[in-house]
Amino acid sequence: MPVALPTFGSFDFVAQTKENLPWADLPTLDLSLYSSPSNRTQLAQELISAIHTHGFFYVKNFGVAPEAVDRQFDIGRQFYEQVPLSEKMLYVPPNFTEGGFNGYMPAGRIVVDPNTGLRDKVEVYNIPKFNGDFAQDHPDAVARNLVEIEVFVREIQKKIVEPLLTLVAIALELPEDYLTNMHQYEVKSEDHIRYMKCGKHPMEDNKRLAAWVPGHTDLGSFTLLFRQPVAGLQIADPTTGEWRYVRPQNGMLTVNTCDALQLLTAGYVKSTVHRVVPPPVDQQQVDRLGLLYFSRPHNDVKLATIQDSPLLKREGYIENLFEASGNPVPTMEEWTFAKQKWQRTGYLGPKEASKEVLPGFSEKVYT
Ligand SMILES: [Fe+2]
Repeated sequence: MPVALPTFGSFDFVAQTKENLPWADLPTLDLSLYSSPSNRTQLAQELISAIHTHGFFYVKNFGVAPEAVDRQFDIGRQFYEQVPLSEKMLYVPPNFTEGGFNGYMPAGRIVVDPNTGLRDKVEVYNIPKFNGDFAQDHPDAVARNLVEIEVFVREIQKKIVEPLLTLVAIALELPEDYLTNMHQYEVKSEDHIRYMKCGKHPMEDNKRLAAWVPGHTDLGSFTLLFRQPVAGLQIADPTTGEWRYVRPQNGMLTVNTCDALQLLTAGYVKSTVHRVVPPPVDQQQVDRLGLLYFSRPHNDVKLATIQDSPLLKREGYIENLFEASGNPVPTMEEWTFAKQKWQRTGYLGPKEASKEVLPGFSEKVYT
């Protein structure tokens, strides 16, 4: 009887690495405890400790069926296996050079090896909110699954994003809805779901490459990374700066807090630098398919330090970098497109490692 082969993107698509890698020691949040109000204070303390210390944590029992997650990987697989490059290129965002990101972004946008000029092999397909603010066409491989994608995204918002925001608000001693009020699904913001393919490089190239995706911080509130069998994501320890691997675990989410929450809390919440490096040798023979969700505040939210938090006041986190330097505090929309425009047009590789993209803020690449 024929044995079904694991499909691209499934968790068993490639065996777990046998290499003894320097794993990051990150806490795990059990989100099933959120349903009990009596557990929320404890859970909020665990979360704030994680994002104050590491900026990264794992989440288990987040209430989304594993089959629904697997289906999303299958939709991503269909896109990358069935849509030819010539058709994918029709979906490059028209405002790409202004920082637009919804739709398809081809590989080869940055130089990952300045010595040889070797470029990245990272392809991205982003789908924005389904709240009516964003009109976007899709190739059939995506369009025929769009209803299911919307259901999935709305489930993520309700079951994961809103509980996490509520817990952060509790920990900051704010009204519980303080942060969810600036992350409402029906209000315009640049949240999106992403199917991301990191194409494999030849082993000879991997030996020379510091990273497949260079070190950076994410610009929004939370980034959710669904189970990923290929070890490749590394985070820079906020205290020591040492690179550590995020551990692949089935049924788990890896979540990081991002720039917007860092700015809103004057740095109390960390937006930690991370990158994607060549996988260990025993996983270098496969492409890597990622499923991510990016949560961001409404476009019109001003990224000023929250002055209503007794915790932030007590701990002395009262001014973010814009306030401290006397420069204008950007809105989320200004912040998003300033960072992303540089990613699309200014940053071409490690030689272009830093540039002032807003008055008082220089965007960087971390190697
Ligand atoms: Fe990232």
